Amino acid sequence: MIDLSGKVALVTGSSRGIGRACALRLAEAGADVVINYVTSGREADELAAQIAALGRNVACVRADVGQEEDVEDMVGFVRQEFGRLDVLVHNAATGGFRPLAATTQRHFDAAMHTNVLSLVHLLKAAAPLLESATARGKVVVLSSHGTHMALPMYGLIGGSKAALTALARHWALELGDRGVNVNVVEAGLVETDSTRRLPGAAEMFAGRKHKTMMGERMLEACDVADAVLFLASPLSDLVQGQTLVVDGGAAIHV
Ligand SMILES: NC(=O)c1ccc[n+]([C@@H]2O[C@H](COP(=O)([O-])OP(=O)(O)OC[C@H]3O[C@@H](n4cnc5c(N)ncnc54)[C@H](OP(=O)(O)O)[C@@H]3O)[C@@H](O)[C@H]2O)c1
Repeated sequence: MIDLSGKVALVTGSSRGIGRACALRLAEAGADVVINYVTSGREADELAAQIAALGRNVACVRADVGQEEDVEDMVGFVRQEFGRLDVLVHNAATGGFRPLAATTQRHFDAAMHTNVLSLVHLLKAAAPLLESATARGKVVVLSSHGTHMALPMYGLIGGSKAALTALARHWALELGDRGVNVNVVEAGLVETDSTRRLPGAAEMFAGRKHKTMMGERMLEACDVADAVLFLASPLSDLVQGQTLVVDGGAAIHV
């Protein structure tokens, strides 16, 4: 039903984890894909080979989304090599798990640059391409329950995600009449490289069964990618500035 053939998608932080699953899902739906990474070049190349085997055009771009010049160069590459951009998935994030009391100015700046300011850099650079897409341009931003819930060791990331979600809504206001949708996917806990580093990760993963209403089924990166695909498709043209929660029901459970 969802056919993104002929479209081009850029997924930030797609060398690993949820971003990787999003890039693959968009490619399976027909899109050509630009993979973005910083340190995991080998993983990005492996994903590119997998996407190329599906018959899609694919490229890997090393760019730190927190750096405006890197973002401008990456979007310039997309313009030059692909000539268009239909879908931007902003997934890259950083932060480190620590108490707020142990957070330094350096930690704060890194999280805010990578997780928040990045959306300003990305949309300043990419809006002209997204606006000139043949159908509505689609921006999907990855956020988390830390925007409105207090989670252990998650204050800095949660605060940055709250800012990111608010920024996404304001971008929707600025770009909506110019042919671009901006929406947020708020994911529940998914086992990835980053969450495996959470203090008490094993207990948290085990505890998911009691929080969600999905029986034995645990939330995986591909489930989040399916929601991203919906928001990247024409099926969601009238969904604007919204947050779609994908967590198996965990957030409504006391
Ligand atoms: N996992 C969860 O439970 C969960 C829940 C809710 C929301 N989320 C959100 O989902 C997104 C992905 O999470 P994840 O768990 O999949 O993370 P992950 O496994 O740690 O992967 C992070 C990805 O972001 C990239 N990245 C980090 N800093 C970057 C930068 N400055 N510029 C460009 N790319 C950068 C990494 O690339 P390199 O390896 O190449 O550096 C990697 O591909 C994040 O926004 C996260 O907040 C995750």
